[in-house]
Amino acid sequence: MLSASDIVKKYISFFEARGHKQIANAPLVPINDPTTLFTSSGMQPLVPYLLGEKHQQGTRLVNIQNSFRAQDIEEVGDNRHTTFFRMMGNWSLGDYFKKEQLPWIFEFLTDKEVGLGLDPKRLYVTVFAGNNQIPKDTESIEIWKEVFSKAGIDAKEGERIFSYDVEKNWWSRSGVPEKMPTGEPGGPDSEVFYDFEDESIHTKSPWKNDSCHVNCDCGRYIEIANSVFMQYQKQPDGSFKELPKRNVDFGGGLERFLLVTEHQQDVFQTSLFSPIIKKIEEITSSPYGKSTNAMRIIADHLVAAVFIINAGVEPSKTEQGYILRRLIRRSYDNIMKLHGENILPTYRIFEAIVEQYKNTDPELVKNYEKIKNTILEEANTYKITVSRAKKFIDTKYKKTGDELMGVKEISAEDAFTLYTTQGLSPAQIESLGYSFDKQAFAQKMEEHQKISKAGADKKFRGGLADHSERTIMGHTATHLLHQALRDVLGKQVHQTGSNITTERVRFDFNYDKRLTDVQIKQVEDIVNQKIKANLPVHFELIDTKEAHKMGAIGLFMDTYGDKSKIYFIGPSTSSGLKKEDAYSIEFCGGPHVDFTGVLKSVKIIRQENLGKNQKRIYAIVQGN
Ligand code: SER
Repeated sequence: MLSASDIVKKYISFFEARGHKQIANAPLVPINDPTTLFTSSGMQPLVPYLLGEKHQQGTRLVNIQNSFRAQDIEEVGDNRHTTFFRMMGNWSLGDYFKKEQLPWIFEFLTDKEVGLGLDPKRLYVTVFAGNNQIPKDTESIEIWKEVFSKAGIDAKEGERIFSYDVEKNWWSRSGVPEKMPTGEPGGPDSEVFYDFEDESIHTKSPWKNDSCHVNCDCGRYIEIANSVFMQYQKQPDGSFKELPKRNVDFGGGLERFLLVTEHQQDVFQTSLFSPIIKKIEEITSSPYGKSTNAMRIIADHLVAAVFIINAGVEPSKTEQGYILRRLIRRSYDNIMKLHGENILPTYRIFEAIVEQYKNTDPELVKNYEKIKNTILEEANTYKITVSRAKKFIDTKYKKTGDELMGVKEISAEDAFTLYTTQGLSPAQIESLGYSFDKQAFAQKMEEHQKISKAGADKKFRGGLADHSERTIMGHTATHLLHQALRDVLGKQVHQTGSNITTERVRFDFNYDKRLTDVQIKQVEDIVNQKIKANLPVHFELIDTKEAHKMGAIGLFMDTYGDKSKIYFIGPSTSSGLKKEDAYSIEFCGGPHVDFTGVLKSVKIIRQENLGKNQKRIYAIVQGN
């Protein structure tokens, strides 16, 4: 039986044998990418290259990418969805296209020697049906017919090959064509589904009254592979233009590959997840068969929490920290559901998780103490929150006199206040023993979501690593701030995160004290002086070891094999100094302005304490 790491090795070797170069697993929390909170697919760090920039490792790439999809949080609980997963990916950057990609994927899925050895009879495929802008993908249909016929299967349309519209067979980071912002790449895709050949999955599901089909949500068929033909780019007038080069962007979830090779119908029963589930059964003293849904949520959410903490995130009220908080609280809600409020050695679940993933992600072992403490501290904070919520309700609903009336019915307004201020979910509020008008609550929730969605859409549009001038200026300002902070506070200070929008730059770094007004002014003065000096900014691909020797700083090692992309700010061309004497030398993917004088000024507007030894500053960047 193939293990998860066997599958990784096989996939990488398969594509290396076909001329691909392996690229690094990018950080789970993207650096300097304001468009998204987490890396959610292998293609995300490759967007500039899919749009036409030359990649230093060539035109055929392969990797395994740790990914997290917050939008799938609510789906977790069924037999196949997980929020954290590892995506196997291969790409053609204007190199091969459909007639190579589809047969290769079929070979990898079905061949016993070089691939997974799946039974081809269990595979079904889908293609794009076309719309008023993009034609039906008849080319893929013809290729699939030939591929299946070589495996002795007469693949007919409507029997083994199915066409679906944009909802199912169009892929872009933002979904269907109408939702794509200007400049975003996307295209039709072709998916492969595996048939569990078990009708009872459908007849026992909520979809039992509808007829089953490959894309049915019942779970009888599971999507295991997605080849996106990324050949279009959205235009400002809503139309689509062909990209200069036609790309292939393939993604397949490792967890699902494992599921089908092990002939399991439940991802949580695979060799990857079952030891984690066993540990949950053991410490909550309840069997998986009886509490399947809750245990799937606990396992998934804690795996995701472990990886998100490992990426340097702490629970908080906003952005990545908020998602992490939700994951931890939701898993503890479910643990409490299984075992009341008893104190349990829940850290043993994290131990089991690290054990399962340590071969592919060895740094989990190094960071284990931090991971454990972060989750346990948040679980504890949550307990305190719950008791505060109880107090809030008791005080608010106290009748005359001092006697508490053991309130049961509370207003939807108050329930919603508990949701927004204490982060308590409706289920949690209910489990505290209060009942409230659910419909009124749902209405409030909908209004709230509309507002935050509008904010999120705006953020996406504003940011779309649109490489807009303001964002590019923000990148350069970040490098200047990084170096200036080290000049003022000392060389032990380094970047721990950053986020750039068109409105401002946010920069996180390690430092234990609050910066004084004088220090802030010193940092600003240095940055503004470098801006005034109009220093040239350029990058070079340098041997990674050499770059370290030169003192290059930075988080994101944009490495290509032995080489790294290094940005230099300065020295001024007329100074006669060497690049080693540059003011700032950083590992970075870019892009940046050509001269610092493109910026006009940088002003630090706020600082925050992010917890132990972590500070955050916000700065406004003005352009000339
Ligand atoms: N980008 C596509 C996906 O995420 C294929 O890699 O499914």
